[in-house]
Amino acid sequence: MNIKVTKTKASRLKDVDFERLEFGDIFSDHMVSMDYRNGRWLEPEIVPYGAMEIFPALCTFHYGQAIFEGLKGFYGSDGSIKIFRPERYHARMIRSSKRLCIPPVDFETFIGSLRGLLAVDKEWIPRKKGYSLYIRPFIIAMDNFLGVKVSDTYRFMIITSPVGAYYKEGINPVKLVTSGEYVRAVRGGLGTAKTPANYAASLLPGEEAKHNGFTQVLWLDGVERKYIEEVGTMNIFFVIGDELITPPLEGSVLDGITRQTVIHLWKDLGRKVTERRISIDEVLSCAMGGSLTEVFGTGTAAVISPVGEIQHGNVRAGVNSGKIGPMTQFLYDEITGIQYGERPDRFNWCHTVQ
Ligand code: COI
Repeated sequence: MNIKVTKTKASRLKDVDFERLEFGDIFSDHMVSMDYRNGRWLEPEIVPYGAMEIFPALCTFHYGQAIFEGLKGFYGSDGSIKIFRPERYHARMIRSSKRLCIPPVDFETFIGSLRGLLAVDKEWIPRKKGYSLYIRPFIIAMDNFLGVKVSDTYRFMIITSPVGAYYKEGINPVKLVTSGEYVRAVRGGLGTAKTPANYAASLLPGEEAKHNGFTQVLWLDGVERKYIEEVGTMNIFFVIGDELITPPLEGSVLDGITRQTVIHLWKDLGRKVTERRISIDEVLSCAMGGSLTEVFGTGTAAVISPVGEIQHGNVRAGVNSGKIGPMTQFLYDEITGIQYGERPDRFNWCHTVQ
């Protein structure tokens, strides 16, 4: 793929402390930008990361016709650069494009432009275990127009950010609380798409949760307010007896790639995984009865995040005495081991870029 590259005259690399990275506050020197006009995507370009000219009437600001993805790049133990399951993230981006009436970007362009970007910014990929390069592709509508309609013009971009742990807790257990008032999504809405509106909907309840000492909201379904759907920025899993249970994808839950990875690894162990509705009452009663042994969230940013406590109304349930459980630890070690090239990539999940 032939991509025009314009390099920055002033790299910011030397200002970054790669021993102490947080999540999402530093951006690499370059980015991919590609416009859609007159019914087709033009050629992608790699340009210095920086401000871009947009107008106050940009329809994305007003009506949110936008989608994004989040995937990760790593240095493997053999020195190669790897991206974890890029075809899965791309497939989800296509599904989100469809829901938001955005023209799809094909896989060749997606991976080709990303490969070009990583070649230019390879020094930005952290080498320390636990750190990675978070890759954020996104598409925004570019028409300047105040009527509610599908835009005729778009911009596809990829920015990258060297990151550490998503939660300040790191791999330590997080505390979740249900929201008595708010829901994230309903079937037929936008819940399965990776689109900003879902995250906007989570801000107020998320702030309330933090104010009350919790890490994130445990979302219940929008109809009966009874079945668990997902967590703030993660899918969720429960170990009850010898079974791993996760809410099904019935039209309001995001189809997480780490969720897919966990289901695959668990089945590969020859163990039972069930995608079924699970109510908050069932979870609390299993916690009280002792059969709920582990709970964890899954997400690209957070990888695997153990849950140590769940609060619903006045009921508070501890999980595994607030400690990470053995299966949660195994999944974290296995997934990060594959990503960093320390464990065999038996399912060819890592796409070697260089
Ligand atoms: C991810 O886990 O990649 C997410 O998209 C969560 C968040 C950073 C928005």
